[in-house]
Amino acid sequence: MKERGSFRSNFGFLMAAIGSAVGLGNIWGFPYKMGKGGGFAFLLIYLLLAALCGAVVLLGELALGRRTGGNAITAYRQPSRTFRWVGYMAPVTSVLILAFYSALGGYCIRYLLLNVGSLFGAEWGTNGLDGASLFSALLTDQPVSVICGMAFLLITAVIVLLGVRGGIERFCSVGMPLLLAMLLVIILRACTLPGAGAGLVFMFKPDLTPLREDFLGVLKTAGGQMFFSLSIASGVMVTYGSYLGKREDLGKNTVIIVLSDTLVGLLAGMAVLPAAFALGAPEDAMQGPALLFVTLQDVFGSMGRVGYFFGVMFYLLVVLAALASSVSMLEVPVAYFTDRAMHGGKRQTGAGKPRRWLYVLAVTVVSGVLCAVTCADGLGSNGLWVPLQGLFSGGAVPTFCDCWLDLLDFISEGLLMPLGALFTCLMIGWELKPDWVQQEVMLEGRRFGLYRAYYVCVRYITPLIMLFILWGQLKTFLNF
Ligand code: PFF
Repeated sequence: MKERGSFRSNFGFLMAAIGSAVGLGNIWGFPYKMGKGGGFAFLLIYLLLAALCGAVVLLGELALGRRTGGNAITAYRQPSRTFRWVGYMAPVTSVLILAFYSALGGYCIRYLLLNVGSLFGAEWGTNGLDGASLFSALLTDQPVSVICGMAFLLITAVIVLLGVRGGIERFCSVGMPLLLAMLLVIILRACTLPGAGAGLVFMFKPDLTPLREDFLGVLKTAGGQMFFSLSIASGVMVTYGSYLGKREDLGKNTVIIVLSDTLVGLLAGMAVLPAAFALGAPEDAMQGPALLFVTLQDVFGSMGRVGYFFGVMFYLLVVLAALASSVSMLEVPVAYFTDRAMHGGKRQTGAGKPRRWLYVLAVTVVSGVLCAVTCADGLGSNGLWVPLQGLFSGGAVPTFCDCWLDLLDFISEGLLMPLGALFTCLMIGWELKPDWVQQEVMLEGRRFGLYRAYYVCVRYITPLIMLFILWGQLKTFLNF
């Protein structure tokens, strides 16, 4: 019978895992949240959370995947009695994120094409329009938004269809180094623009006022960002862990993934914020979509023809980063269906040949429908009906039903992710016990020098912080 997928090399695994972690969350979320959260103060809290929570959950997920050799669902069902149901949350989370992520990925494809057009002086370029006009035209142009979102999802599906080695590993092994090279070129250009220094000051100035004024707010923002950015509690790292060879070092890989993800966030900030400040638009630098689709497009537009060259490079970089993340989301349910076909589901009977194309198609269609609705809604610009909106017609409407994107984001990032990570810690810390992970880390005679610290974190510290982050997410999305 055909074997389930696996990575060819540790480098391939790392590129795929870092590819999943590095995405829109780093390129646009990290810089402005860091700027808003007091620069160094935010960074400090972020690094603490990444070490005490992110790395702990990530290591646990990789160990779960590799030790059980199963997809996100079996990895919980096999070793656990109490938490065997937790794995079912993962495919739901990843499919919901894939839906709105593809809508945003589609916008990036549209901007890439607009800049290519302008670079060649074609009519289908920006036609001299500024970022704000281009963005509002795109949001309200439902057919174009939907087509771009579908194009992004289709590319994702093709890569996943080519398999773990031939598709995901190959794409990420080429795409991630290319992304880093392009990011460095953009940083060089951005930081040499007149007035760019203010952006770096905004990002890095050691201002502790935000911590004094709103410590919990900074902690909550950094926590939410850390979750999404490391792709934990979505089944991705469990699935990728199951494709990793027993000889590879889980502990070292965990550290490399966390550090690389943070470094790319910082580098992205050094590309994006100085450019925004050079244009004199610091308030836009504080906002998500406007920063990426309005301010930066204005920066490229103000440089003449050469600006569109940088525009093409920048949006290509963003599309690459987003694709390496979206393929990991699609792989989660596909891996489950593949294993199910190979082992005949729960009862271990009726094993058959997995039909990867069918699983890719089925999950793409489900995500595609939600993605199309999100695109048609245009971040709420077109006022599509959002479920649950009517419930709040009297008082203040919670932000999660502002638009379809916010609704999908709330269910996945706001609820399922913190809950999934919390239950994973409880399962590892209290049911399986931390030495279950230790045994997997110490295979091939490896050392686990920080085991005591890991033990304390996974049993006490991480679940507590998780609870706090969950409360923070609910507070943000429910407006209380
Ligand atoms: N880590 C990705 C980013 O920062 O953009 C987002 C992400 C990827 C979330 C994969 C969840 C996931 F399963």
